[in-house]
Amino acid sequence: MLTVENLAVHFPSRRGTVKAVNDVSFSLDAGEILGLVGESGCGKSMTLLSLMGLVPYPGQIAGGKINFQGQNLLELSNSDLRRIRGRQIAMIFQDPLTTLNPVFKVGEQVAEALRVHQILEPEKKGLFSRSSSGAIKEEVLKLMQDVGIPAPEQRFDEYPHQFSGGMQQRAIIAIALSCRPQLLLADEPTTALDVTVQAQIMDLLRQINQREGTGIILVTHNLALAAEFCRRLAVMYAGELMELGPAEAVITEPLHPYTKGLLRSLPYLVPKGSPLTPIPGNVPDLAQLPAGCPFSPRCDVADHVCLEKEPPWVETVPDHAARCWRLT
Ligand SMILES: Nc1ncnc2c1ncn2[C@@H]1O[C@H](COP(=O)(O)OP(=O)(O)OP(=O)(O)O)[C@@H](O)[C@H]1O
Ligand SMILES: [Mg+2]
Repeated sequence: MLTVENLAVHFPSRRGTVKAVNDVSFSLDAGEILGLVGESGCGKSMTLLSLMGLVPYPGQIAGGKINFQGQNLLELSNSDLRRIRGRQIAMIFQDPLTTLNPVFKVGEQVAEALRVHQILEPEKKGLFSRSSSGAIKEEVLKLMQDVGIPAPEQRFDEYPHQFSGGMQQRAIIAIALSCRPQLLLADEPTTALDVTVQAQIMDLLRQINQREGTGIILVTHNLALAAEFCRRLAVMYAGELMELGPAEAVITEPLHPYTKGLLRSLPYLVPKGSPLTPIPGNVPDLAQLPAGCPFSPRCDVADHVCLEKEPPWVETVPDHAARCWRLT
């Protein structure tokens, strides 16, 4: 369904070009759930925003291809892109509170999303045979019910501040689903929520995936959550993809020294009583990336080639690969 090839996102800055996304390639099958994990600032959101054509100014896509169902999204006109965005591809943005407008009723906001899609997509199979507000309201109530908002009739007329965090996130998911997307990009959809609500939202996303066959890219810094939810995991570091493989294998038999370091440093993945081992050093400045592997200055197994030359992708077992000289 989706293939991303050598994607690059650059921000000009006084210190030089910030390479927020650097040579990232991955693919997604129809109906698949892929996890994109990595530390803060490693380029996860920019990767998703690129798929939506929404990289914020002054950033720009500096190279690569994004093939979605046979079309390179980077070659489409703005109006064609708008037709795909929010219709075939929808996104749950990282900051949920900025998605809902505080001065409009929640039901109206879901209805607005539906109306926009109706305008963009008049041919939509009988969804609005009567395009009256009554038909739209019916559809909104159904969507609100689908995402588990109780008593939708009553909730329709409430404002966002009358919704709990979890209910707000459900409303946001309803807006994203209003176009019945084939691909849902979920950027940290549960970070602002407490653990039990987090589980409910993840459950809801899984149901949507199973019921509608919606492909999902889940961005999170929570590796344990990603491992449980996703079929495959992609690990990013400093704008680059470092490892890609089946979720289970990435967690239990990581290939890349960065993934290994990440796993040793996470409280929820280290066995009780064992010490946590933070990765020494700091994330590099994306405007002044080291030559060679971006992780090499912090890597405990790096040798001179790692410091000098960009590492190759090495597939040690089928479908599980990492970008590392030490695997060659
Ligand atoms: N306006 C900007 N100007 C310059 N650089 C920017 C700008 N916006 C983002 N960046 C760079 O892009 C990098 C990637 O940002 P991105 O938001 O994709 O990270 P992320 O992995 O989603 O992090 P988080 O987990 O904190 O959400 C950042 O490290 C930052 O250096
Ligand atoms: Mg982000």
